[in-house]
Amino acid sequence: MKSLNIILMGPPGAGKGTQAKKLIAKFDIPHISTGDMFREAMKEGTPLGKLAQKYINDGHLVPDDVTIGLVKERLSKDDCAKGFLLDGFPRTIPQADALEEISKEIGRKISHVINIDTPVEELVRRICGRRVCKVCGAPFHIINIPPKKEGICDICGGELVQRPDDNEEALLVRLDHYNKQTAPLLEYYQNKGLLTTFDGSSSADLTPKLIAFLEGK
Ligand code: AP5
Ligand code: MG
Repeated sequence: MKSLNIILMGPPGAGKGTQAKKLIAKFDIPHISTGDMFREAMKEGTPLGKLAQKYINDGHLVPDDVTIGLVKERLSKDDCAKGFLLDGFPRTIPQADALEEISKEIGRKISHVINIDTPVEELVRRICGRRVCKVCGAPFHIINIPPKKEGICDICGGELVQRPDDNEEALLVRLDHYNKQTAPLLEYYQNKGLLTTFDGSSSADLTPKLIAFLEGK
């Protein structure tokens, strides 16, 4: 099987985190979510967290230099030697160019760029009903993907909460950044022959299709 150095793309609420959790379990590769890394730093109150908070809660992007530095450090760790799944990075052209350089340095070229395409009305429904585990970050949805016990994470038993940027105002800002800064990356990766788009609008589980695709079936 081709080595798996994957980028998972899609607008806010498309289902990147949901799919990522299942793919990393199947392929035993690390899940590198810049959003999760920033939220972890915010929870711990580190200097990175304090800086990120200024942008994230209102839906703005964290500056490129900060985000690139964070990913560069993470990708140089030993566990990435067997592959990785990037979720939410790159999100701008400068980030994609930097990733190109980093992957050359670590000798791991991007193998697949998976785009989860989901219409905007569905994104709003998903974001507004999302609850995430305060402890492990697993995403649920009050209607679509409810936890077995209300308010409690199925995976680790942690409390389920709403993300501060999951409100209509911040979502509009996030969508605007996506359309202006991130969507152009689809063409960027299409031109490199790496992009494959999947329909994420259905409530049916996309995971078996993604696994078959990554296994080359
Ligand atoms: P990040 O955490 O990456 O947020 P995002 O891209 O806005 O995406 P989400 O996590 O909101 O959605 P998702 O696609 O993971 O969907 P999920 O699986 O949870 O980034 C947050 C912020 O950090 C950014 O706004 C920015 O400020 C900053 N940041 C991060 N990376 C950055 C970067 N590279 N550069 C600069 N700044 C950066 O699913 C959504 C909901 O739908 C859930 O409730 C789920 O249960 C439900 N659901 C999922 N799939 C389905 C389905 N098939 N049917 C029905 N419901 C479903
Ligand atoms: Mg996510």
